[in-house]
Amino acid sequence: MTRVEPAAVVDEELVQAVARLVPQLSRSAPPPTAAELAAIVSSPATTLFVARDDGGRIIGVLTLAVFCIPTGVRAWIEDVVVDGRARGSGAGRALVRAALEGAAAQGARTVDLTSRPDREAANRLYLREGFEARKTNVYRYTAEPS
Ligand SMILES: CC(C)(COP(=O)(O)OP(=O)(O)OC[C@H]1O[C@@H](n2cnc3c(N)ncnc32)[C@H](O)[C@@H]1OP(=O)(O)O)[C@@H](O)C(=O)NCCC(=O)NCCS
Repeated sequence: MTRVEPAAVVDEELVQAVARLVPQLSRSAPPPTAAELAAIVSSPATTLFVARDDGGRIIGVLTLAVFCIPTGVRAWIEDVVVDGRARGSGAGRALVRAALEGAAAQGARTVDLTSRPDREAANRLYLREGFEARKTNVYRYTAEPS
């Protein structure tokens, strides 16, 4: 059984687990430092959900961002990743469900996410959990390195 909880403290175990997981999500993003993780964990806008296996080992993470804008309280799910060795046993589903519960508890009207079409397992997961594909253009502005 996978257990999912919001991270409350940033310790070496969490820093190392996220450092193992981030490269499985992005080839370009460096893993966050302990201070960067602490900023995520302490921010009222973000919740870092952590999935653990039966032995208590961290096997996945998901970040939920909830914010208030003129059209209401909205939420985004970002950076969903489960360790390659632990996939296919429901950790992804448990992370998404915990995030949806967290978003609902904070009054979010909608929960959005994006996922590249080649992320097939992720796209199946989101559709299975009730997300619907929207017809909208997704834009990104990438800042120049300072
Ligand atoms: C997408 C991702 C997070 C899914 O994590 P996961 O833990 O494998 O997800 P789940 O186990 O809940 O679901 C995966 C599959 O296992 C199956 N499964 C879930 N629980 C199961 C169980 N108890 N027994 C057998 N199979 C199970 C699901 O039905 C699903 O099958 P399908 O994808 O073939 O339809 C993971 O593949 C991942 O980290 N991918 C790389 C990073 C990525 O793409 N992230 C998403 C960014 S948008």
